[in-house]
Amino acid sequence: MKALVLCGGAGTRLRPITHTLAKQLVPIANKPVLFYGLEAIKEAGVDEVGIVVGDTSVEIKQAVGDGSPWGLQVSYIYQEQPLGLAHAVMVSEEFLGDDQFVMYLGDNLIKDGIKGLVDEFRNNKPNSQILLARVKEPQRFGVAELEGGRVKRLVEKPERPASDLALVGVYMFDNNIMDAARAIKPSSRGELEITDAIQWLIDKGFTVDPHVIDGWWKDTGRLDDMLEANRIMLETLEPRVEGHVDGESETSGMVVVEKGAEIINSSVRGPAIIGEGTRIINSFIGPYTSIYFGVTVTDSEIEHSIILENSTVTDIPGRVEDSLIGQNVEVGRSPLKPAAYRFMLGDNSRVGIL
Ligand code: G1P
Repeated sequence: MKALVLCGGAGTRLRPITHTLAKQLVPIANKPVLFYGLEAIKEAGVDEVGIVVGDTSVEIKQAVGDGSPWGLQVSYIYQEQPLGLAHAVMVSEEFLGDDQFVMYLGDNLIKDGIKGLVDEFRNNKPNSQILLARVKEPQRFGVAELEGGRVKRLVEKPERPASDLALVGVYMFDNNIMDAARAIKPSSRGELEITDAIQWLIDKGFTVDPHVIDGWWKDTGRLDDMLEANRIMLETLEPRVEGHVDGESETSGMVVVEKGAEIINSSVRGPAIIGEGTRIINSFIGPYTSIYFGVTVTDSEIEHSIILENSTVTDIPGRVEDSLIGQNVEVGRSPLKPAAYRFMLGDNSRVGIL
């Protein structure tokens, strides 16, 4: 069995962060979201992985390499344009051969991994197995209608969903999906939808087993989802201090201080993670905060937020909350006169001031 991991897509719902960073590499609890998927694939006993890449191929290749850190053999498949998930399957035909495979969307996070689900697929040998999860806004997803435990209909982002069962971004297939992908037509958003390809399998009488998962799952495509994923994954960590916490500082709850990080005259209330070489000075870091590497936070308070590498937050009078701050960002007071707000913000940025 092989794995196909999809890392194309423009990440429009996470702009401006994704102007410069692949959405699959945004860190959750200081680990790129894609790495959780690779770990889950390895744990499921699948070693041969094809990663479908597009515009962000260089960064993805740089981050994952040949897969050896995970004990995986990774090869890359180039998809020239993001023409849909079924299109990604088609461009991977040579890599997949006649093997069964698990297809994993690189921005999806399943807290409990996929081992049990892959085992079930291997044992039952349906033509396809799909994962479903109950969600609050099914119109944002592919939606399944079940009847007597079987899949009756799948519709991609329906205006009036027939159920609250969303298609999770992890699918298992045998090679019949190739005929399905070739048979369908592009959807109204111009993509070959995997949802339509699976419907084709159902219509042709192939077996498609649904599995409703009860564990936590997230498509991390939006800010709220990222913050929630960060909350959930921080809670799975074990506390550890590999950096330096000075005598004036206090940590409480689940706190990870990574190598070379320094906590000076500050309070860190977990669950929180402070990345390599990051410095927290005269500050308060509250629960559900992940601060990546090389960041400096001085005279400020941050809670329930994700801060990416090499940014600085300095002397902010109010508490920073519910925020995602990108790479190399400077947030600080402006000493220049006349007193004024001074911004240099990327496209699609959002700022909330008091
Ligand atoms: C894709 C699929 C959708 C599925 C979702 C899960 O949506 O088309 O059926 O529910 O992934 O993450 P997209 O992220 O392309 O909007």
